[in-house]
Amino acid sequence: MNSRFYVTTPIYYVNDVPHIGHAYTTVAADVAARFHRLKGLEVRFLTGTDEHGQKVARAAEENGRSPQEWVDSIVPAWKELWSRLDISNDDFIRTTEERHKTRVQEFWQRLYDSGDVYLAKYEGLYCVSCEEFYKPEELIDGKCPIHGIPVEVVSEENYFFRLSKYKDWLINEYYARTPAPVYPPSRLNEVINFARDLQDTSISRSTFSWGIPIPWDPKHVIYVWVEALLNYITALDYPDGELFKTFWPGVNFVGKDILRFHAVTWPAMLHAAGVDPPDLVVAHGWLLVGGEKMSKTKLTGIHPDQLIETFGVDGFRYYFLRDIAFGQDGNFSWESMLARYNAELANGIGNLASRVLALIESTSGGAVPDPVGGEQDPERAFRSVAEKAVVAYDDALERFAFHEGLDAIDTIVREANQYLVQTAPWKLAKDPSQRKRVDAILYAAAEALRLLAVLLSPFTPAASARLWTSLGVSEGLDAQRLPAAGRWGGLVPGTKVSKGESLFPRVDG
Ligand code: MSP
Repeated sequence: MNSRFYVTTPIYYVNDVPHIGHAYTTVAADVAARFHRLKGLEVRFLTGTDEHGQKVARAAEENGRSPQEWVDSIVPAWKELWSRLDISNDDFIRTTEERHKTRVQEFWQRLYDSGDVYLAKYEGLYCVSCEEFYKPEELIDGKCPIHGIPVEVVSEENYFFRLSKYKDWLINEYYARTPAPVYPPSRLNEVINFARDLQDTSISRSTFSWGIPIPWDPKHVIYVWVEALLNYITALDYPDGELFKTFWPGVNFVGKDILRFHAVTWPAMLHAAGVDPPDLVVAHGWLLVGGEKMSKTKLTGIHPDQLIETFGVDGFRYYFLRDIAFGQDGNFSWESMLARYNAELANGIGNLASRVLALIESTSGGAVPDPVGGEQDPERAFRSVAEKAVVAYDDALERFAFHEGLDAIDTIVREANQYLVQTAPWKLAKDPSQRKRVDAILYAAAEALRLLAVLLSPFTPAASARLWTSLGVSEGLDAQRLPAAGRWGGLVPGTKVSKGESLFPRVDG
């Protein structure tokens, strides 16, 4: 088994402040990073900002600032959001940093020297919001298929990368790998179809200057996409840094709109330079508002703070991964977020925790009881359901099927509630002869809480930490590792629990 895990988010354009679509990508990658830490892997998690190109330059101009002033003024909003959302990135790369610029230049110089780059006159249709060229047949009503805005005719002399030369390698070797290098595997066909008609791609622009100069011809700047992609390795000190040797190749999380760049251009660029392509590109779907991709351009952008205020950071992190099958598009609506939050977090996990902790306080003086001698069939049945759910959770998260992982967690919560209703320890507690039964039931219920704190920790790290503190376990939650921490029986009888504050306060509609 691989002992290291390198995961990245796309680097975000700083033409504007973030919206919940950006947060969705970052939270998903964070859950993957936290899950792999929980599994005991050495993890490196990178995010950052994509600061060059026309889109950012225009935003700066519209705001009467120089591009550098503009990006410097916007980046803090991104960093602050990630820290508010408990994003556990190890590094944050800005493409205006020296460490990125010099290595990008080195990379393209290498491909120029090896003959993979040439100069040609180019005419194409360009969407500045995508920073991407389109073929006429890809447009919808003459407009960008993603943003629905007019494209611009670009006619200039550009340097080109011989991307088409790598078509056979991509199709016959890279995409043919097992496991497939693209998630979900259903997207692989789309990528292969695109690659079949692969053309060389422009890697420079000469009609504006906000970018990294082409080292051998500084009248040109490097095209923002083939510069930005390199962040995943420049941040590891490519080509000879220890981090690069340790962590590359890694897993790139992206939205489906930028899958082509990541699953076609990016591996081919790396292969041409003699570098391994990414192990996996994980593509998620879009958050839709009113059936359309949410975006600032269309004024449907929702800032995460609008939701965090009501549902808390953990409510935010939980909802999107729970409600949308990861990989598919999903509609955002306040009503559905409210309903899920109240049903699953407030009434589900939150109530279960407060009920069980209160029972332990009232019947056992706040100490985790000893189950020995009192266990019967209901405990054994409950334990078996929980054990199966732990296996299902692990299997799902290994496949980036976050929603299935949360299904498994939900199974434990539901089963625990049913089990408590069925065994009714609050009734048995009135009869001293049932002491051992009560102890066994409350032990099982508390053990379920321990499992939930561990399994939820990648998704809801702050609430998990609070639950963990309530359970009084001496070893920190951060020190827990799967599979050991997922085995039944981890709680030590006698451990002092405390009720603590409500994990997920109910939200009124
Ligand atoms: N700068 C490029 C990425 C370069 S990576 C080398 C870029 N930036 S972006 O800010 O426009 O988008 C970044 C990510 O946010 C993409 O993965 C995109 O899919 C995601 N999202 C933007 N809007 C989104 C939704 N409405 N829903 C889900 N994800 C969305 O592209």
